[in-house]
Amino acid sequence: MNQAWGLRQMFPALAALRTRDAHVSEHLRADQATGLNQGVARPRSRAITVAGGKGGVGKSTVAVNLGMALSMAGHRTMLLDADMGLANVDVLLGLTPARHIGHLLDGTCTLAELIVTAPHGLQIVPAGSGARRLAQLSNPEHAAVIRAFDELPLPPEYLLVDTAAGVSDSVAMFAAAADDVILVVCDEPASLTDAYALIKVLSRDFGVRRYRVVANMVRHAGEAKHLFEKLSRVSDRFLDVSLDFMGLIPHDEYLRRAIRRQCAVVDAAPGSRSGQAFKQLAGAVDNWGKPEYPNHDRIAFFGGQAAMEPDLEGMGWAR
Ligand SMILES: Nc1ncnc2c1ncn2[C@@H]1O[C@H](COP(=O)(O)OP(=O)(O)OP(=O)(O)O)[C@@H](O)[C@H]1O
Ligand SMILES: [Mg+2]
Repeated sequence: MNQAWGLRQMFPALAALRTRDAHVSEHLRADQATGLNQGVARPRSRAITVAGGKGGVGKSTVAVNLGMALSMAGHRTMLLDADMGLANVDVLLGLTPARHIGHLLDGTCTLAELIVTAPHGLQIVPAGSGARRLAQLSNPEHAAVIRAFDELPLPPEYLLVDTAAGVSDSVAMFAAAADDVILVVCDEPASLTDAYALIKVLSRDFGVRRYRVVANMVRHAGEAKHLFEKLSRVSDRFLDVSLDFMGLIPHDEYLRRAIRRQCAVVDAAPGSRSGQAFKQLAGAVDNWGKPEYPNHDRIAFFGGQAAMEPDLEGMGWAR
């Protein structure tokens, strides 16, 4: 199975959906019209998905702190909690959002209305927690969430996407829709085998070829390099992908303390080892070259294929 196959499987379902009177479509058109009327210049946004395969390796920690570090550096940054059904970005930041992605899908609000603002202006798009329906979104529903970002009246400079553990279609779609994929690994055998499994699925079935690796919870730089080399050796040998070492986050008690206080360590303790490391990661992101422009036939957060609007009412989301 390759990306084209995956898309062919998905598109007939999407194409079959009519756009007639979905609430979401109306909201999205309203958002777009506002943007156009205000004459807002729309610089190309960059979507970065944070994944890892294994649970508990620090995906959410990296997404939250990298997002906050980018915001603190003056970039308009948004963070989508894409761990649907088990969302915890809001908990990590001590926020209590009233609405979540389910409300976008059932047409009761726009994406812009979902956003809650964390310290330093970091914008959070919350996913619900404990809702079975959200944990079982179909591929067209994922596609609808992804496409909604391209219709924001004021898109962010950076969109970070925190994903769930595992190699589900959900994780794969959010990774394939982004401009960049950050893989978080830690020094546990299962972290490397799960990261490898994720790379295999994403490259083989979704055409994702490039990965930026963050070694988390490491004791020193040598350990981080060693982890990266282990993963890239096996990936280079068996898969047609390219892995770049992006940086490391040390194991840090300050980070744990910040989590208990429900704040980002880069905000609560910017001088700590992990706080400094997140600032360095943000600097690295800022130095990446321009994102490669996507194929027109892919579902992307920004600038992708946008011809079809799924009818979410027909999928049972409308009240
Ligand atoms: N650099 C670090 N130093 C110390 N502790 C850390 C570090 N990174 C993560 N942790 C700890 O690991 C826990 C799990 O982190 P996190 O929730 O970010 O993982 P995750 O990959 O998002 O997990 P899940 O797959 O369940 O979503 C955190 O609660 C925190 O206590
Ligand atoms: Mg998480």
